Amino acid sequence: MANDHPKMVASFSYPFVAFVFVLCMSITNGQYANFNKLELPQGVSGPESAAFRGVLVFSEGPFTTVTDGRILKWQGPNVGFVDFAYTSPQRTKQFCDGNTDSEKGPICGRPLALSFHPVTGLLYIADAFFGLLVVGPQGGLATQLVGGFKFLTGLDIDLLRGDIYLSDSSLVYDIRNATQPGFTPDSTGRFLRYNPHNRQVTTLLSGLFGGGGPAVSKDGTFVLVAELLRKRISKYWLVGSKANTAEVLLDLDGNPNKIKRAERKGEFWVAVSVGNQPRAPLVVPRGIRINSDGVVLQTVSFATQFFNKSISIVQERDGKLYVGSRNTTSIGVYSN
Ligand SMILES: *[C@@H]1O[C@H](CO)[C@@H](O)[C@H](O)[C@H]1NC(C)=O
Ligand SMILES: *[C@@H]1O[C@H](CO)[C@@H](O)[C@H](O)[C@H]1NC(C)=O
Ligand SMILES: *[C@@H]1O[C@H](CO)[C@@H](O)[C@H](O)[C@H]1NC(C)=O
Repeated sequence: MANDHPKMVASFSYPFVAFVFVLCMSITNGQYANFNKLELPQGVSGPESAAFRGVLVFSEGPFTTVTDGRILKWQGPNVGFVDFAYTSPQRTKQFCDGNTDSEKGPICGRPLALSFHPVTGLLYIADAFFGLLVVGPQGGLATQLVGGFKFLTGLDIDLLRGDIYLSDSSLVYDIRNATQPGFTPDSTGRFLRYNPHNRQVTTLLSGLFGGGGPAVSKDGTFVLVAELLRKRISKYWLVGSKANTAEVLLDLDGNPNKIKRAERKGEFWVAVSVGNQPRAPLVVPRGIRINSDGVVLQTVSFATQFFNKSISIVQERDGKLYVGSRNTTSIGVYSN
């Protein structure tokens, strides 16, 4: 009997060790070599965001926001994307669907960021023209919670306290101006907090050069804020001795857009691009995975599929990376 024991260990341990090894390799060193596309309906472009609702078998999505003002939901490869919600009370499908003219934004809406509340199932929306909105599980016309922004770009929910963190790009220009000839960006972006109990908005940081990001840490102790055009990410503390102050966490050689929590606790994925201004020709669109100290743990280049296009989001889901861009007609999906 004693002689059988080592044999048994050997026969079970090799596959087990190999399995753990392969699992670790795919988690830590996966370079996301497989690429797939989720195509938007014909004529529709600019899938700037990618959000999921629910978990495991109840998982739905991605939901995305497109140039013609709609929020679309992916229904699988046989159906594709279908209408889910919209932000502008004046929006008509006839006037807006399929348009790529940013001048129509004030009528059609231009949602740029999405965040599902995992408990209530409500979808919070940041729209460039219509501000912060919310819509129920069935979708349709969203309800505005707070307006008056010039160019709202991002949001995230603090699940511990219920606050919603927002970013805007400018007090002066809007999303239409950014593509007009002679446009020069300014440094009037902000990082803000919306309190759902008293409906007040508080400015936490101002003077940002291209506000983006925001991502609340899993433990609710800080929020990461991106400055697209200053090419850096700051950490804004919510608790502790440094509460209500910010520190620069990471300087980059490209432009960081949205920041999303990674699936591994305490880590984030940042969408980094060449951006349009200031142009840095050697920078390719990529996702970087960082930890809470700003250490870059992994870089995944999207250059083969996205060339020199700017990307706006890298959303991790079930080990895959969903890449959204204002310049494409599909969401890219990278897997190992
Ligand atoms: C932005 O574009 C709109 C519409 O084209 C225009 O009315 C407005 O004057 C522009 N604003 C700036 C700051 O250029
Ligand atoms: C981006 O890449 C495309 C295709 O490779 C090329 O035709 C285009 O000139 C490039 N644009 C810029 C602004 O570098
Ligand atoms: C991406 O879109 C922006 C704004 O719509 C545009 O100015 C830029 O030229 C586009 N870049 C590419 C590479 O398509």
